[in-house]
Amino acid sequence: MPVNNIKLNNGVLMPEIGLGTWKANEEGTLAKTIKTAIDSGYRHIDCAKIYGNQKEIGSALSELKVPRNELFIVSKIWQNKHRPELVEGALDEILEELQLEYLDLLLIHWPYALKPECDGLVFTADDLDNVPIVDTWKAMEALLDTGKVRSIGVSNFNKAILESLIPQCRIVPAVNQVEIHPYNQANELVDYCQKNGINITGYCPLGGSKVTVMDDEFIKSVAEAHACTPAQVALSWALSRGIAVIPKSTSPIRLKQNLNKVDLSADELRMFAKITKHERKVDPARDIKELEWIFHEDKAQCPLI
Ligand SMILES: NC(=O)c1ccc[n+]([C@@H]2O[C@H](COP(=O)([O-])OP(=O)(O)OC[C@H]3O[C@@H](n4cnc5c(N)ncnc54)[C@H](OP(=O)(O)O)[C@@H]3O)[C@@H](O)[C@H]2O)c1
Repeated sequence: MPVNNIKLNNGVLMPEIGLGTWKANEEGTLAKTIKTAIDSGYRHIDCAKIYGNQKEIGSALSELKVPRNELFIVSKIWQNKHRPELVEGALDEILEELQLEYLDLLLIHWPYALKPECDGLVFTADDLDNVPIVDTWKAMEALLDTGKVRSIGVSNFNKAILESLIPQCRIVPAVNQVEIHPYNQANELVDYCQKNGINITGYCPLGGSKVTVMDDEFIKSVAEAHACTPAQVALSWALSRGIAVIPKSTSPIRLKQNLNKVDLSADELRMFAKITKHERKVDPARDIKELEWIFHEDKAQCPLI
């Protein structure tokens, strides 16, 4: 069955279920995963420069010869490319790795900057750079005029940052990609984004490998009632809120399963409110306390806005 589309605030259509690719090549099977995903009906693929596997994705896609206009390819610029003069070059590198002429959506991966030489996942507070996010966003806006991106958006942006950024924008972000699963429901952020025309894409929609959403007794009971899997319940809950999801799987069976949405009743959907825990898989402040403001709006100073 084809995946439904969500219309972004610029009229571009984005399939509501995409394939996550973080750590998707640990067993060297990414090309096979991409082929199975495309054969199963995935057209939206979530990539990022920092995942280090865009070359494999690009060569797998070029071999499959799917018409480019049927695909929705997302990527993200890493924090060491936030200086405005580095943004277009960062996009060019991504396009080269993916063997593409354009991206459907380019995101700022995180709302803080790192020094240009810091291009890995391991860094300290000394590596933080002093680049206002609005300057990076203006460089993103300029990319729309090059034809190398169809849409631009953000990731891991909280409400306070968006409230400060939007009045300074020419283009409102089309998407905010954030961690959303039944244990981290982020209602206030989701409401704010939806009211302002920013579509939410939920990452780690299954809780990833650390957050035990799929072992939750309530989710398991709903899965049993619908004769489906806990993963399908978690994904269907997000989709029912108008949130796109990008589950990652390397298993052919699970890849297909994750595309099959189930209709949850209004009562079932209401009961999800009882299981939220504000439990995150991803939080850079666990390593660097200077980044605590990212997910803690009440304490937020939101530097560099
Ligand atoms: N913007 C950001 O900062 C950010 C941060 C994190 C992630 N992301 C994006 O979001 C994507 C998804 O997040 P994620 O990969 O961390 O976590 P996830 O998709 O929530 O969970 C992936 C885990 O669930 C397993 N799984 C998948 N389908 C399943 C099913 N039907 N039943 C049981 N287990 C299942 C996978 O194992 P198998 O592979 O063995 O099936 C894997 O261990 C990433 O791949 C990445 O593209 C973005």
